[in-house]
Amino acid sequence: MTVRFQQSAPATFKLAQEKDWSSTRIAIRGFQLRPKVYVTRLLPEVAMERINSFCDADVWRGELPPSREVILRKARDVEGLVCLLTDKIDAELMSEAPNLRVISNCAAGFDNIDIAEATKRRIVVGNTPDVLTETTADFTFALMMAAARRVVEGDRSVRGGGWKTWGPMILLGQDVHGATLGIVGLGRIGAAVARRAKGFGMRVLYYSRTRRTEVETELGVRYAEFDRLLGESDFITLHVNLSRETFHLIGKKQFEKMKKTCVLVNTSRGQVVDNMALYEALRVGSIAFAALDVTEPEPIPADHPLLTLQNLIITPHIASASMKTRTEMALIAAENLIAGLKGELPLHAVNPEVLGHC
Ligand code: GLV
Repeated sequence: MTVRFQQSAPATFKLAQEKDWSSTRIAIRGFQLRPKVYVTRLLPEVAMERINSFCDADVWRGELPPSREVILRKARDVEGLVCLLTDKIDAELMSEAPNLRVISNCAAGFDNIDIAEATKRRIVVGNTPDVLTETTADFTFALMMAAARRVVEGDRSVRGGGWKTWGPMILLGQDVHGATLGIVGLGRIGAAVARRAKGFGMRVLYYSRTRRTEVETELGVRYAEFDRLLGESDFITLHVNLSRETFHLIGKKQFEKMKKTCVLVNTSRGQVVDNMALYEALRVGSIAFAALDVTEPEPIPADHPLLTLQNLIITPHIASASMKTRTEMALIAAENLIAGLKGELPLHAVNPEVLGHC
């Protein structure tokens, strides 16, 4: 393991001596062996404390992400990087960061990172899956329910003075119970959504690259070919990773196969849906409604045509945003970072082969 020697001010040294000696931080005659890391956004306090207990951390404190120039400059002399899905960590950045050994993404997805390049350079990449599964599934359901029962329109109507009386035809929506749900991608989050759907008495179809027979048996969900799922589902929810295969997986042709009453929910990645095809499908009524937590690009520009539609809900990529889950994600990101810096296998490593694990 390469270690960076940093001369610290006497006051800092004192602090290091007084503080927890059981930590892996080592202070010898005013020199500290503390890996330098850059953290691209302030994380919950417990995670920052954990990072600071082991590393010499430089933290971007802005509410908006650091610019590309800043990340490139900061990455130049660090051994570890804690980043978010808003930070593009590509070959250019890695080539400018000769000491970089660990990239710890505070997210389950890692499409913002060039994994092949990291692996080539023997940089271990960590992520934070599992811990957000149930929270993201909750939110997927929240979007589906809100879309089906027109919750956002109802709120808008009340605030706009539109609630004049109880009316038999006002804001009629669709039933979720008893409807058919099509889940595209039956990974951890897809399966957690399926579990909820069963509780609502839904018929659940799924499409996945690989068939999940054990989940089919456990949850009573049925595999369907993609086109069949598109044609039979009242609600379609997307839970695939973003890859070359899933880029614009849902476009014009797919919308044409859906029911006119179909509600599309996306809490995966914005690029899985062709936005302009979605706009057209919603505008002409080839599907009824969409609820998106992710868009292409993010944030979606205020003048984007999608925002002119009433049959659409958009939230700002908050599916995993419960206090508990975001804190746990940050803690895992901190632990992944520290493990990687110690040359150990992080709890969640995307490319464990870098450390000799498969
Ligand atoms: C959120 O989208 C994540 O990947 O964690």
